[in-house]
This record gives sequence, structure tokens and C-alpha cells, in this order.
Amino acid sequence: MEKKEYARRRKRLMDIVNEGGIAIVPTAPVRIRNRDVEYPYRPDSDFYYLTGFPEPEAVAVLVPDRAQGEYILFCRERDPERELWDGPRAGLEGACELYGADDAFPFGDMDDIVPGLMENKERVYYTMGLDPDFDKRVLSWVNQVRHRVRSGITAPDEFVSLGHALHEMRLYKSKQEVKAMRRAASISCAAHRRAMSVSSPGLREYQLEAELQYAFMQGGARAPAYQSIVGAGANGCVLHYTLNDAVMEDGDLVLIDAGAEYDGYASDITRTFPAGGRFSPAQRAVYEVVLEAQLAAIDKVRPGNHWNDPHEAAVRALTRGLVELGILKGRVSTLIKDEAYRRYYMHRTGHWLGMDVHDVGDYKVAGEWRLLEPGMVLTVEPGLYLAAGIKGLPKRYWNIGVRIEDDVLVTADGHEVLSAAAPKTVTDIEAVMAEARAA
Ligand code: GLY
Ligand code: MN
Ligand code: MN
Repeated sequence: MEKKEYARRRKRLMDIVNEGGIAIVPTAPVRIRNRDVEYPYRPDSDFYYLTGFPEPEAVAVLVPDRAQGEYILFCRERDPERELWDGPRAGLEGACELYGADDAFPFGDMDDIVPGLMENKERVYYTMGLDPDFDKRVLSWVNQVRHRVRSGITAPDEFVSLGHALHEMRLYKSKQEVKAMRRAASISCAAHRRAMSVSSPGLREYQLEAELQYAFMQGGARAPAYQSIVGAGANGCVLHYTLNDAVMEDGDLVLIDAGAEYDGYASDITRTFPAGGRFSPAQRAVYEVVLEAQLAAIDKVRPGNHWNDPHEAAVRALTRGLVELGILKGRVSTLIKDEAYRRYYMHRTGHWLGMDVHDVGDYKVAGEWRLLEPGMVLTVEPGLYLAAGIKGLPKRYWNIGVRIEDDVLVTADGHEVLSAAAPKTVTDIEAVMAEARAA
């Protein structure tokens, strides 16, 4: 992302925060995996959206109309001894030169400096509840200013959640964001294709996960956007399966839900394919139902339609399909009203997608489903999960779990499927798998 893009975002936020306000945005802490081993570091999305600053121990403070500079970054100082062990830091100079801060101060100096920045402000824009210790610190800064009111200054008396303004901004993707998301999706499509190509009964699920990981990194993405799901057979019916350690059997379907993160932006793609390269008739029949539902839902993604239109289209197609498969019995309209499909389709058809895989942004506005608008990105991901032993479920369908998930950008006249390059029809999947086997 260009430096200018972050500056534009800060400017837009500052127009909302305005002269009477101050915004405080901390990044995420380093998290411990075990003893002194850390999880790979990932900055907080709100913070990174505004700063592009990748280091931990940093807080951005935006003070509109501050004469000495509106964007202040508190961060780690340079430290040759530490940098020898942990790698380079931007330091205070780098914060200004590389990341566009107007002023930078040591992370440890916040308690001395922030109260002064709050003087004569009316509102503090800050998201409470994410980090109780930091919440206390912000309150103590406000209290410090209150104690000084006898000297004629005023203290802020209103807290405003940053989420409202910032998450509205994050919901509409700019050209540069769309570019990053296209790239994240295209890396992930290549990874799904690779997993299909090397799939073979006898491999463990995590061996396909390894192929995904390899393709992500070779494609230029440093990490997955979320933990990859690779579920074969019965595991494909477990919605958040991440164990990924079972042996894939001939005759299993394999459900892979995996997406790379590129430049801070997620992709989120699911494909389902036969471990051995050929769908059985029952697997194929179920797959075609899910695919039809997914295409019907994607067709509803266009400006003017509301958030729930794709879901409603998917539910209609899935219910109709379940009746055709002989799994549900009765009138389609009644089955929909009674939510009979929920035994086999228990999640919703999608979510916003962006820096976070389940991205920010309201789904309803004033109690009504939100209208889709250009620049929004959502997933479309219907599925059917036909777990063994469900009462009344014919045995030929047992352990068939199918989900098909694409990332879809709302455009001025409809939509663009960012993840269209991942094989999706039965014919394409079988062809990709056959080709790999013939090579
Ligand atoms: N990968 C998480 C989801 O599909 O929502
Ligand atoms: Mn997914
Ligand atoms: Mn998803």
C-alpha cells in the first residue's frame, strides 16, 4: 500500500474526529504461544489501516489541527543491542520518515505526553473493551487532565467508539485495497489448484495444508489469513475443523477452506473435491446442488440488493436441491419457512471480507438489511453438511460435506468474483486432477 493511501485514511478519519476530538489507536500486543515462544506478530487491523506500521508496542494518536503536527506515533526507540537479537526497528526517525508520522515519541513516554494532548478536547475516540489494561491507562490520562481544570483547561467528557467511523471506512474498499485483495485471492486460487493437483488417497490432510502454505509463500503471501481447514470425509462436515491430521481415504470428499493474507488483506476461499480425483454419483449430485445455490447467491450480489438477498437465494436453491435429492420431503416454501434446511446448512451465506477475514462493517442499518454498494467485498459460501447418522438421511449421502466459497466485490453494475480462478465446476475439478495425474 502506498504511503499516500494511509495519509488519505488518516485525513478522512480526522475530518470526522474534528478539532474537538482526539483519537487513540493502539496496535495489537505480542502474544505468547508457550513460555518464551511468541506467535507470529500481526498488527491490529484498525491500527495498521491508519498507519501501515508493522511493529508491536505502538500507539497512533490523531490530534486534528494540532499546530506541531496531527499524527503522533508512539513506538519503540532504536536499540542496537535488541536489534542485534530481534531485527531492525524503525525508531522515532523512521516513524516520521518511513511512515509519515508528524511527530514520534518513545512508547514509554505516553503517560507523560498524552494527557497534554487531551487538554481542551471534548471527545476521545477510542475503542474500549479490547484491552482492559490499556482502557485503564486511557481513563487515567483523562483523569489527569480533570485534575488540572483549575488552571483553566477543560477535560474531555465524552468517549466515542472509534469503530463507528473507522469500520464504515474499512467497509468500502479503495482501488489499492481491491488490488491487494485481488492479489490475495489469486495467490490462494493457485494454492487451491495445487492442493487439488497433489491430492491422493493415503496422504494426511496436513500434507495438503503444507502444499497450501508452500503456494501462499511462493506466491508472495507471508501467512494465511486464518487457520486452514482441510477436512476429508466426515471431517468435511465439521465447520471449524483445523486438526487436519487424518488420512484421506479413496472415496472421501476433501473440503479445503484456506486463504492467504496479502499486504494485510484476507482472502477466504473454499473448494471441495474428491480425494482420488473422481466424484461418486451421490457426491456429484450434492455438489451440483451447492454449486447451483452458490451461483444463485452470487447472482444477487449487485448494488441495490440488500445484504440478505444472496443468503435467501442460497437457502431457496439448497432447499429445492435437498428435496430433489430425497433428503427433505414436503413443499419447498414450507420447508424454508420451517427452516428444515438448517440441519444440513447451519451457517449464513457470507460475511464482509477485508483486513479481517470476518471483516468489520454493519450488516443492518436502522434495523434493515444493508444495501450492497460498489467497493464492498463479501464472501458467498453456501454448503451442505451431511454427517453420518443424521436421522432420515439416506446412507449414500453420509459423510458428504460440501462448501463452495468465493470472494466477491460489488461493482457499479454488478460484481467481480475475485477468486474465479480456483476450479469450481465438477468438470474443471476432475480435469485439473486428471491432468496432474497424467503428468
Ligand atoms: N474461513 C472462515 C469462513 O469461511 O468464514
Ligand atoms: Mn472460509
Ligand atoms: Mn468465509
